[in-house]
Amino acid sequence: MKRIIYLDNAATSYPKPKQVARAVAKTIETIAGSPGRGAHRQAITTSRILFNTRLDIAKLLKLKNPERIIFTKNATEGINIALKGLLKKGDEVAISALEHNAVIRPLAVLKKKGVRVRYAPLDKNGLPDPSRLPKVKMLITTGASNVTGAVAKIKALGRACKAKKIFFFVDAAQIAGSIPFDTSNIDILACAGHKGLLGPQGTGFVWFAEGLTPKPLLDGGTGSESELADMPSYWPDRFEAGTMNTPGIAGLHEGIKYLLAKSIKAVREHEMALNKIVLEMLMNDSLIIVYPPFDTRKRASLISFNVKGVDPAEVGDLLDRRGIAVRTGLHCAPHAHKFTGTFPEGTIRISPGALTTQADVKRFTQELYKILKGR
Ligand SMILES: Cc1ncc(COP(=O)(O)O)c(C=O)c1O
Repeated sequence: MKRIIYLDNAATSYPKPKQVARAVAKTIETIAGSPGRGAHRQAITTSRILFNTRLDIAKLLKLKNPERIIFTKNATEGINIALKGLLKKGDEVAISALEHNAVIRPLAVLKKKGVRVRYAPLDKNGLPDPSRLPKVKMLITTGASNVTGAVAKIKALGRACKAKKIFFFVDAAQIAGSIPFDTSNIDILACAGHKGLLGPQGTGFVWFAEGLTPKPLLDGGTGSESELADMPSYWPDRFEAGTMNTPGIAGLHEGIKYLLAKSIKAVREHEMALNKIVLEMLMNDSLIIVYPPFDTRKRASLISFNVKGVDPAEVGDLLDRRGIAVRTGLHCAPHAHKFTGTFPEGTIRISPGALTTQADVKRFTQELYKILKGR
C-alpha cells in the first residue's frame, strides 16, 4: 500500500518524531505510579516527568513560572479553564473574527451568564488591530486562523494590551511549536500539545501570568493537601484534579525536546518553503480560489482553497482515494468562514507540518492537477 500523504497537521501533527511514541510506550511499560500520589520512587518518577516537561515548555516558549503551566487534554480544555475561571457577569471581552469554536462556544455559555462579547476593531485579515483596541477586560485572539492561516500581530497586540491594562489571551493552537512569537506581554496562553508541539493526542496546556488566578474548572484529588475539602491553594495542583496523562506528557516532552534541539525558527522556515510550493501551484490555476493572505511570511502553515463550482468534500474525497489526507468543509470556526465568504460549504485545507517533506507536497500538487484535468 502506498504511504499516506498526510496534510492535516492543523488538526493534529503526523508523523511525530519517533521518540514521542517511544516515550509514551516506555512510560506505560516501565513506570508504575501516579504523579503526586505516594512517596515511592515510581510515583516520584512520574511527578518528575511532569515537572521536567513544564520546565522545557517554559524554556521553549519563554514563559515565566513553569508551575503556572496547567496540563490539559487539549487546547479546548485550557481555553475553558481560562474563560470560565476568570470571566464573570458584567465583564466585556473583545475577540477576533476568526476564533475557533474552542473560544466561541465557551463564550456563548458565558454570554448567557452576563459576560459581554464584541469584536475588536479588525485589520483586513479579520484579526484585532493593535492601534484601535477598545477598553475591555480581556482581548482574546487566535495566534493564527485555522481557516485562513492569517497570523495575529502578537507583539504589537501584547504591548497595546499592556498599555491599556487589558488581559491578553492568545489561543496558540495553530502557532505553538511552528511559529516563533513574543510571549512577553501575553497574560494567558492556551496550547494544544498534539499539533505543532508534536506531542500525542490528549495533551495540551494553559499558562497564566503572575497575578491571574482562575477558579478551578474541576475539583478532585491531587495527592496534595488531602485533608482539605478545597483544592490546594498552590499551582499547578489547584488546577490539575485527577490522575494526569503521564504517558502522554512524557511523549509531549519528547516533542518539546525535538523543537528545542531543532528550533522553532527552523521548523517555520521548512514549513514556509512547503507552503510556497503549494501556493504557487494553486494560484496559477484559474479553476482554484485561494483565500488570503498570500504572503507565506504572514500565514501559518495551512492553505484554504476551493475548486470553482465543486463541493470541497468531493475534492477531499478524490484526494483521499489517491492517498492524500486533507481537511474539508467547515473547520470548527464558523465566524472565520463567514468572514472569508466560505460559509456554509467551507474549504479544502491543506496543512504541512514539521515532518512533511517536499516530496509529500509535490505529490499533492500533482494529484490535484490530475483531478482538475479530469474534470
Ligand atoms: C485556533 C484553534 N484553537 C483551538 C483549537 C482546539 O484545539 P484542541 O483540539 O487541541 O482542543 C484548534 C484546533 O483545531 C484551533 O485550530
